[in-house]
Amino acid sequence: MVIIREIRDSDIEKGFLDALNNLLPPDINDKGYAKSILQEIKSNLLHKIYVAEDDSNGKIAGTTTLLIEPKFINKGMKVGYIEDVAVSKDFEGLGIGSKLVTYATNQAISIHNCKKVLLYCSAKTRPFYEKLGYKIAEDTVVMKFESLSESR
Ligand SMILES: CC(C)(COP(=O)(O)OP(=O)(O)OC[C@H]1O[C@@H](n2cnc3c(N)ncnc32)[C@H](O)[C@@H]1OP(=O)(O)O)[C@@H](O)C(=O)NCCC(=O)NCCS
Repeated sequence: MVIIREIRDSDIEKGFLDALNNLLPPDINDKGYAKSILQEIKSNLLHKIYVAEDDSNGKIAGTTTLLIEPKFINKGMKVGYIEDVAVSKDFEGLGIGSKLVTYATNQAISIHNCKKVLLYCSAKTRPFYEKLGYKIAEDTVVMKFESLSESR
C-alpha cells in the first residue's frame, strides 16, 4: 500500500529521483545538489511536490507536482497546474499514478480553492488522465526549445 504525502528531504535518498527517471532522467548524481533544488522549491509555498511512499519499506514509488497560481481575473481565482507525474517502473500498473493525480487534484480544489486544474500530456498518456475525469482542451500553443529532451 502507498501513502501520498508532501515530499521530505530524506525522500531524495529513498528513490524519488528513480521515480522521476521514468518520466525523464534527472541526471543528478549529487544528492546534495538535489536537496538544494528541493529547498528552493519548498521556499515557494505555492509549489508542492507529492510522493507515494510504499508503507512496507519507505521507498518512494511515484511523485507529482502541483503549482498554484493566484490570479487577478475572475475575482482573484486560483488555477492549479499538475506537472511531472511519474511512477517507478517497478510500481507501474498498481493504481499509484491515479492516486497521485487524484490527490493533487483534490488538494488544488479543496485546500487551495483552485477553480480549475490544467496539465500537459502526450496523446499516449491522455487516456490515463481521461479515466480520472480530465478532458481535452483545444487551442493550446506551446514554445519548445530543441535542446530540452522530452518524453511526453
Ligand atoms: C503514466 C503513469 C504515471 C501511470 O501510472 P500508473 O501507476 O502505472 O497508472 P495506474 O495504475 O494508476 O493506471 C490507471 C489506469 O490508467 C491506465 N494507464 C496507465 N498508464 C497509461 C498510459 N500510458 N496510457 C494509457 N493508459 C494508461 C491503466 O491501464 C489503468 O487503467 P484501468 O483503470 O482501466 O486498469 C506511469 O506509467 C508513468 O510514470 N509513466 C512514465 C512517465 C509519464 O509518462 N508520465 C506522464 C507524463 S504526462
